[in-house]
Amino acid sequence: MLMNKIETLTINNPVRSLVQHFVEARLLRKKGGYLNGGTALEIGCGRGEGARIILDRFGAERVVGIDLDPAQVERAQRRLPKKYQKRVEFQTGDAAKLRFTDQTFDAVFDFGILHHVPEWRPALREVHRVLKPGGRFYFDEVLRGFLETRAARSLFVHPQEGHFSAAEFEHACRAAGFEMSGRVTTIGTWFAIGVAIRPSDGI
Ligand SMILES: C[S@@+](CC[C@H](N)C(=O)[O-])C[C@H]1O[C@@H](n2cnc3c(N)ncnc32)[C@H](O)[C@@H]1O
Repeated sequence: MLMNKIETLTINNPVRSLVQHFVEARLLRKKGGYLNGGTALEIGCGRGEGARIILDRFGAERVVGIDLDPAQVERAQRRLPKKYQKRVEFQTGDAAKLRFTDQTFDAVFDFGILHHVPEWRPALREVHRVLKPGGRFYFDEVLRGFLETRAARSLFVHPQEGHFSAAEFEHACRAAGFEMSGRVTTIGTWFAIGVAIRPSDGI
C-alpha cells in the first residue's frame, strides 16, 4: 500500500535519514554483522537512503532496491550520487511478488515496509525464497502498538492486515523457514529490530 501525503513527507526527509543511519543501521549491524561483499536486496527502498547504508555501513558490493511506488523509485534514482551508480539498481516491484529467481541474494533489508504490505506473510516467504542459504534478513518494523495509536490512525494510512506484534512477526519469520539470530529488540510495543537467517540446510 502506498504512503499518504503526510507519511511521504515524514519519510522523505533528512531527520528520517539520520535515524536510519545512526539508530537503525547501528542496531542492525550489531545484530547481523557485516556482509563483506555480496549482493543485497532492499524491499521498499523509498528515496534510496537504505541502499547507501547497505553499501557503506554493511559492506555489500551491490544493492538492488525495489519499491511499489514508481515516484519513490524515481526519487531514489535521482538522489543517488554518481559514485554509487554502478553498484545500485532501483526498480519498481512488489515485496509480496519478488521478480527474482530463488537464492539470488546474500542479504535482504526491510527498513520499515512490511507493515504497508497486506500480504506480509507471503512477502516473508518471498524474502526467504530469494535469499541464499545462510543469507540474512535484516528487519526494522513498525508494530501494531504504534499503528493503532490515535495519532498514527489519524495521520497515516496502513492496511489493517499489516498490523502485527513483535511476537507475531517473529513467529511468521519462523513459519517462513527462518531462524532468528539472537533476540528481536523492541522499542515498547511500537518498533521491532532484528535479524533472521535462512538456514544453510533449509533449501
Ligand atoms: C515507510 S516507507 C519506508 C521507506 C524506506 N525504507 C525508509 O526507511 O525510509 C515504506 C515504503 O514501502 C513502499 N511499499 C509499500 N508497499 C510495498 C510493497 N508491497 N512492495 C514494495 N514496496 C512497498 C512504499 O512505497 C514506501 O516507499
